Amino acid sequence: MVQGWKWSRRRSYFPLISLIFMVLITATILFNEFRIHQYQNPDHNPHLQNTQKSPPVELDRFTTCSSTVEYSGGDMGWGGGVRHSPVPGGVKECDVFAGKWVFDNGSYPLYNESHCPYMSDQLACHKHGRLDLGYQYWRWQPNECNLKRWNVTEMWEKLRGKRLMFVGDSLNRGQWISLVCLLQSVIPADKRSMSPNAHLTVFRAEEYNATVEFLWAPLLVDSNSDDPVNHRLSDRIIRPDSLSRHLSKWENADILVFNTYLWWRQGPVKLLWSSEDNRVCEELDGVRAMELAMKTWAKWVDSNANPLEKRVFFVTMSPTHLWGQEWNPESEGNCYNESNPITQENYWGTGSDLPTMNMVEDILSRLGSKVTVLNITQLSEYRKDGHPSIYRKFWETLSPEQLSKPESYSDCIHWCLPGVPDVWNELLFHFL
Ligand SMILES: *[C@@H]1O[C@H](CO)[C@@H](O)[C@H](O)[C@H]1NC(C)=O
Ligand SMILES: *[C@@H]1O[C@H](CO)[C@@H](O)[C@H](O)[C@H]1NC(C)=O
Ligand SMILES: *[C@@H]1O[C@H](CO)[C@@H](O)[C@H](O)[C@H]1NC(C)=O
Ligand SMILES: *[C@@H]1O[C@H](CO)[C@@H](O)[C@H](O)[C@H]1NC(C)=O
Ligand SMILES: *[C@@H]1O[C@H](CO)[C@@H](O)[C@H](O)[C@H]1NC(C)=O
Ligand SMILES: *[C@@H]1O[C@H](CO)[C@@H](O)[C@H](O)[C@H]1NC(C)=O
Repeated sequence: MVQGWKWSRRRSYFPLISLIFMVLITATILFNEFRIHQYQNPDHNPHLQNTQKSPPVELDRFTTCSSTVEYSGGDMGWGGGVRHSPVPGGVKECDVFAGKWVFDNGSYPLYNESHCPYMSDQLACHKHGRLDLGYQYWRWQPNECNLKRWNVTEMWEKLRGKRLMFVGDSLNRGQWISLVCLLQSVIPADKRSMSPNAHLTVFRAEEYNATVEFLWAPLLVDSNSDDPVNHRLSDRIIRPDSLSRHLSKWENADILVFNTYLWWRQGPVKLLWSSEDNRVCEELDGVRAMELAMKTWAKWVDSNANPLEKRVFFVTMSPTHLWGQEWNPESEGNCYNESNPITQENYWGTGSDLPTMNMVEDILSRLGSKVTVLNITQLSEYRKDGHPSIYRKFWETLSPEQLSKPESYSDCIHWCLPGVPDVWNELLFHFL
């Protein structure tokens, strides 16, 4: 691993307490997205009366464990094929994921923030007061070749008669909004539509008979966090062996773009196997729980994906910039007030966990050409300037203490649009 040494070196001066703090910040920002609806009356739990019979019960946000025991070693029995090396999507003719950011205000941004009717208030940084717009002007330049130039007509031709679906968490939703913004400008307003925000949200373009959809499935497998609005919960409970709730929505899509990562970084995960009738959960650390979920997902990909008929993409972890010390030893801040990319080659922050990356790489490589990896981690690591920080809508009321210290509530996880996710979509276009 190229960055292996960096990780261990950096970790050594990165105290555990900071990591715990980081987990808390991450959790707060991820959960606060839709705070409006989070207050629910627990007495309304429809399952409390009848959990004893006919398992498995669908998990929802009211699901609880009756007790928690240690992980007993179960899994889906998916070993996958032999490791294919190199990972497809990586190094065919040229490794497009190795390169640098080049300032290019001639070709970028690829669209105007205020001209995209589907823009999210979480990502519209200019609208929310950001004045340094440099983050919109960077082009990704691979070292040994050029990326295919974004061409909206060509992209629509590739999508004609097809369903493209993003499946994952709020980072993946950001990439979906980016793609919709990139695509929508050439479709007349009366020939396009967007369904209301739900588990599955659908953008449709009539004349191409095509849809670009987003499915909320932050942990890929079924979990108690699958409600797109109410998912602020203290315990993370998953069904490590079941995709069914999401699968029924995604299985007919022609092109699938998956991601999952940050939701596994919030402490131990509870496992509730489908065969378990008495709500006895097992507990496992995030990385190993993610591995179980990835294998369940991979088992499905292995028997259903086909590069000619059903394309499957996997987007690697989206980096965070929560600790200024990582790129500037004198800094006590985070991404707030950062207006330029990091130029140090192979820079790697502590938020991008290498053991997780290795686990993911191992699983993906066993899927061979059935999956195309969009390895956005390294290139996004450089973009400490690309996050909304304080320039987004916050649903909670900010206290005077917070307001006097902008770093304390900065969002250094999601990405401003136009911005970094547009480039992830150029990579998707490149491989489609
Ligand atoms: C691009 O940036 C350069 C240098 O900052 C500036 O001189 C030029 O006017 C800019 N061009 C556009 C189209 O914004
Ligand atoms: C976006 O469009 C608005 C309104 O048409 C315009 O005022 C603004 O200059 C544009 N922004 C960019 C970055 O082109
Ligand atoms: C974009 O793609 C369309 C359809 O493939 C093609 O006709 C057109 O020339 C392309 N435009 C550019 C600028 O390459
Ligand atoms: C539109 O696309 C769907 C697949 O997404 C296909 O089943 C249907 O036949 C298409 N309709 C037309 C009119 O092409
Ligand atoms: C933001 O950065 C600029 C320099 O890039 C500096 O002059 C300014 O004091 C910083 N503001 C805050 C609030 O840290
Ligand atoms: C992504 O690229 C990094 C190098 O930047 C590499 O260490 C990692 O293994 C790759 N991940 C996958 C899933 O291919």
